[in-house]
Amino acid sequence: MITQLTVSNLRNISDLSLQPISGINLILGENGSGKTSLLEAIHLLAMGRSFRTRTLKNAIQFEQQQLQITAKISGDIPVGLQYDKNKGLKIRLNRAPLKRLSELAMQLPLQFVPANCHQFFEKGPRYRRQLLDWGLFHVEPSFNFHWQAYKKIIQQRNAALRQHKPTSEIQLWDAHLVSHGDAITALRKQQLKKVLDQFSVLFARLCPEFSGAEFTLKYRNGWLKGSTLDLALSGSITRDQQLGYTRSGSHAADWSFKINDADPIEMFSRGQQKLFFLALCMVQASMAEHSNHDRSILLLDDISSELDQKHQQNVMQELTLLPVQTFVTATDFEFNNSEKMKMFHVERGQIR
Ligand SMILES: Nc1ncnc2c1ncn2[C@@H]1O[C@H](COP(=O)(O)OP(=O)(O)OP(=O)(O)O)[C@@H](O)[C@H]1O
Ligand SMILES: [Mg+2]
Repeated sequence: MITQLTVSNLRNISDLSLQPISGINLILGENGSGKTSLLEAIHLLAMGRSFRTRTLKNAIQFEQQQLQITAKISGDIPVGLQYDKNKGLKIRLNRAPLKRLSELAMQLPLQFVPANCHQFFEKGPRYRRQLLDWGLFHVEPSFNFHWQAYKKIIQQRNAALRQHKPTSEIQLWDAHLVSHGDAITALRKQQLKKVLDQFSVLFARLCPEFSGAEFTLKYRNGWLKGSTLDLALSGSITRDQQLGYTRSGSHAADWSFKINDADPIEMFSRGQQKLFFLALCMVQASMAEHSNHDRSILLLDDISSELDQKHQQNVMQELTLLPVQTFVTATDFEFNNSEKMKMFHVERGQIR
């Protein structure tokens, strides 16, 4: 969690400081005032990348040379990020240069819920895998070990396929790939079961219209149903050689929750789709807290888009109960103030 934040020269924010609370930080302001930019700053600091642009130069304020974000996180640990047009990106954690972005991700688990998050269902499997793996990364220490090893082996196997190496040489990788792949599949299914249990309860509270609904897990391994990874790899070697890459495996997995045996995209309205995604992120963020013993961060951009007042209230109510530090933006919002909520009014990139 973040206890102090300073942002300089990021989009329309020239110089801004705030002291967030551990509960809900509600950021209010007109269109174009800088609300999403403030979330972008937090995301950039925690993840080393923006959710809006791949070219960080675009996030630097017009006519400036560099942007800077500094923060104090739990335990009074300083974190600083600087992006300079010429010198590039520099991040310091606890006064030392950062070696790997995953060090920061460990310290500051963060989930971002975009305004258009109802599009979750239309996005590809990669997006859904990343969401699930984010949770596993923070909850299950062995997941990262298996996933890093798996990725390395896939890269080597694919390089061998591209170079038209003999079949026996390509298949040298398969036993290791299967052992890590099977471990990844088991961990993902185990995590999804836990998420599903909590999700069903939370979703019913966010969206009482569905309180009697039954949610079930749909998981695709990434290879032919009924087969094993071992058999899938040996059975598709000729196809992989033609394609020049490994098509089947844990890197091709996908998942969803079905509602009363139907796909949510067919059943849900847009607002309900947004609540579905939100509930997933809320559950995963709170699970990360339990394993890290520190609050993870949830960024929720534009709570009012797609949601009516009643459902916005439901979300805010559930957020106050969640052991997660949240930053919520809205153009205007009517909600009873509570000690678990602090409001910030943004005007032309400044807190008023
Ligand atoms: N590189 C930049 N330098 C200066 N200003 C910028 C830059 N990039 C974007 N802006 C401006 O920053 C302002 C803040 O944008 P932001 O998306 O944060 O607004 P917002 O408060 O989230 O608005 P909305 O309610 O419409 O979502 C906008 O006016 C935008 O045009
Ligand atoms: Mg915005």
